[in-house]
Amino acid sequence: MPTVNIEKAEFKARRDRLLAMMEPNSVAIIPAASEVTRSRDTEYAFRQDSDFFYLTGFNEPDAVLVLCPSSDTPSTLFCLNKDKLAEIWHGRRIGFEKAKKDYLFDQTCALSELTEQLLNLVNGQQILFYAQGTYPQFDDKVWALLNTLRGAPKKGYKAPHTIKDIRGLVHEMRLFKSPAEVNIMRQACEISAQGHIRAMQFAKPGATEYQLEAELHHHYAMHGARHPAYGTIVGGGDNANILHYTANSDVLTDGDLVLIDSGAELQGYAADITRTFPINGQFSQPQAELYNIVLAAQAAAFTEVKPGGSLSKANKLAMTVLTQGLVDLGILQGELQELLDNQACKAFYMHGLGHWLGLDVHDVGDYKKDEKERPFEAGMVLTIEPGLYVSLDAQAPEQYKGIGIRIEDNLLVTEQGHENLTLSVPKSISEIEALMQKQAINR
Ligand code: GLY
Ligand code: MN
Ligand code: MN
Repeated sequence: MPTVNIEKAEFKARRDRLLAMMEPNSVAIIPAASEVTRSRDTEYAFRQDSDFFYLTGFNEPDAVLVLCPSSDTPSTLFCLNKDKLAEIWHGRRIGFEKAKKDYLFDQTCALSELTEQLLNLVNGQQILFYAQGTYPQFDDKVWALLNTLRGAPKKGYKAPHTIKDIRGLVHEMRLFKSPAEVNIMRQACEISAQGHIRAMQFAKPGATEYQLEAELHHHYAMHGARHPAYGTIVGGGDNANILHYTANSDVLTDGDLVLIDSGAELQGYAADITRTFPINGQFSQPQAELYNIVLAAQAAAFTEVKPGGSLSKANKLAMTVLTQGLVDLGILQGELQELLDNQACKAFYMHGLGHWLGLDVHDVGDYKKDEKERPFEAGMVLTIEPGLYVSLDAQAPEQYKGIGIRIEDNLLVTEQGHENLTLSVPKSISEIEALMQKQAINR
């Protein structure tokens, strides 16, 4: 699959849309992420701030985007100065001259000029758009700037009287994916799907959870996605009942299931897939019984993923299937309606049904509009991920204890309904067993 890129013109068009939504007498300050220390003299792999990236496509740390609709140069980027010595040690920098041309900003400046230039850009504007609290060190810079503007009226300085949160506007834009974004997400999902297949083929009793993790990450990197989108979860047996299990340190045991929740990040965009399968390639009877309930719950939820549908209605459908299934297996007892009214299945299904997906794995965008749950619209991308978790210490028949199952796919809402972006990973019991049988030689 050829790699698709988002054109710089699309990033510029996003800035222009945001500028058009801002009041004429306003200014927005949007900082990039900074590097984060991991241990002495070493940093975590740099990950750009998602909002900053969405508006710029610029992937260096410490840059700052300033948008000002009333200015002759509405978009200004501040970025790290070119510096021979720093670049020998830490890597190449684009520099403000090249950044202007390559990234289509109206104006670019060296980061060393930020304090002085921000005074000019913010002075006299009435509204400051800024996302407080994300980067405390940058907050300090902004408060210092406002204090300077407030403290020197004789110099003609005037501070904005209102601070608004820029996130509301940007996150509503990010909720609806453009065709170019959808193309990248399709690719991120397909790479991730093939990674899951690779892990299924590799799994065998005696392998470790982190070796399966390595298989997934190897596949992602070999197909252009260097980083996973979030901490990969590989939980064998009862570890699957720890929802955010990332230790991935145990040996996989014959007869257990393993739950893998993992997705690649491609050009900033996340995939988020979960599959649960038998380590020895064959589901036992109790595993299969629970598995098919989760699969049916997911299928029921899928019917609601279409324009006009909603996450809560999808969740209601899923919970009805889960609850009936738990009654059928003798894990829950009582009248279906009463159990639904009491949300009894929540003892075995503790999380939500899904979430928006995009530049962040738990992507931004309001789940409500005008105080009501917002219906799905074409262009949204979300996960649907029901599960059942019967831990070793649960109140349940013995044969179901120690089984945790989640099945998670990534769906694009389309005018007609939805497109499942993660369809390639086997999901039915027969498909999974057939795939794993092909690899039986490894086990
Ligand atoms: N991987 C995180 C989630 O499924 O929400
Ligand atoms: Mn997940
Ligand atoms: Mn998820």
